[in-house]
Amino acid sequence: MISFELSDIQSQIQETAKKFAREEIAPGVIERDINCIYPADIIKKLGELGFMGFMVSNQWDGSELDTLSYVLAQEEFCKVDASVGIIFSVHNSLVNWILEHYGTDEQKEKYLRPLARGEKLGAFCLSEPEAGSDASKQHTTAVKTDKGWILNGTKNWISSGTNADLFIIFAHSKPELGYKGINCYIIERGTPGFEPMRKEDKMGMRSSDTCSIGLLNVEVNNESLIGNEGDGFKIAMSSLNGGRIGIASQAVGIAQGAFELAFKYANERYAFGKPIIEHQAIQFKLAEMSTMINAARLLVWKAAFLKDRNQNYIQAAAESKILASRVAVDVTREAIQIHGGYGYVREYQVERMYRDAKVTEIYEGTSEILHIVIARELIKSIGKILI
Ligand code: CAA
Repeated sequence: MISFELSDIQSQIQETAKKFAREEIAPGVIERDINCIYPADIIKKLGELGFMGFMVSNQWDGSELDTLSYVLAQEEFCKVDASVGIIFSVHNSLVNWILEHYGTDEQKEKYLRPLARGEKLGAFCLSEPEAGSDASKQHTTAVKTDKGWILNGTKNWISSGTNADLFIIFAHSKPELGYKGINCYIIERGTPGFEPMRKEDKMGMRSSDTCSIGLLNVEVNNESLIGNEGDGFKIAMSSLNGGRIGIASQAVGIAQGAFELAFKYANERYAFGKPIIEHQAIQFKLAEMSTMINAARLLVWKAAFLKDRNQNYIQAAAESKILASRVAVDVTREAIQIHGGYGYVREYQVERMYRDAKVTEIYEGTSEILHIVIARELIKSIGKILI
């Protein structure tokens, strides 16, 4: 049964994240967006707080916190700056998670420990020019040699690609086996032939860098293989289940941030002789926004709750991401509307939130893909539902 009461630790994490967002993330957020400035100092400080090894066990220098705490922190960061949220999310819920669940002790010692301490930053490289939603159609190849592997290919849309130190890479070694021929590797920045390339000029999330990565005859040793040969697709899919909770909480954060700005503005702005919040048209908008945010938040918490109890959270994570991302786009659009013309200029911030919100409907599975994920889970459980 879900409890609506947070534990002392969860409340403390929420408070710490809120204070951090107010004091460290809020200053400079507009300038970082305009000039696409990567928030290096903020990420460094998050590492010092123990937030870059958020759910990693103490054994590997992590903070060993639960998923619900992670969701609470992510919401606080994204209320203020969703770009920080995506860097935090990919590093924790994809890269750290994969290493902790599939890495050997040697890989954890070498890679997970510095990632969890925030000394190194991680990136996740699955998408390719011709393998986005259809992730099993990897064109990046891995060829076995006497010493290890040689990788060739191109990765696209890599969050933190120009700033990360460690990269989780997926590549096909046996295309004839379909998704069962995909492997997962970890590659360090600076490995010859591994090159972050074109940085994208994005609509939103502008201070989180996104780039393509070229792999030209990149030689890695056998210790770079994560899991067994052929495990790559399953590793990718299972990490994305958790990643979706991170993005859903990001979307809730963006929506909540825009709602709070709109609410404040509606109290301060006068029209027709009274604050606009006294006009029913505005009240209805705010009531609808609040309702949708609370519904999305509940779904995200449910997904986190199931994950923390080692129960199947695939459907809940996908559902929460569909709803939360839709709510983020709707709420930020309405927040602009409440602000009128001011909402359309940078200073009032809601236009940035609207731009940031849009990508939550795209990455870690478009809404269309997530409907497939949910439908498959429903079909699997149909017997249970009917009985
Ligand atoms: N969790 C765990 N395992 C899963 C899974 C899931 N959600 N989905 C599929 N699998 C497993 C299946 O069980 C199956 O294994 P078995 O044969 O052993 O049962 C295997 O994977 C193959 O499954 P499917 O035949 O269902 O696979 P498919 O090719 O039809 O693909 C898909 C299914 C749901 C469409 C999948 O390709 C998908 O999720 N695509 C979206 C990928 C995506 O999100 N890409 C962008 C993410 S990268 C990103 O955004 C990073 C960033 O920087 C922000």
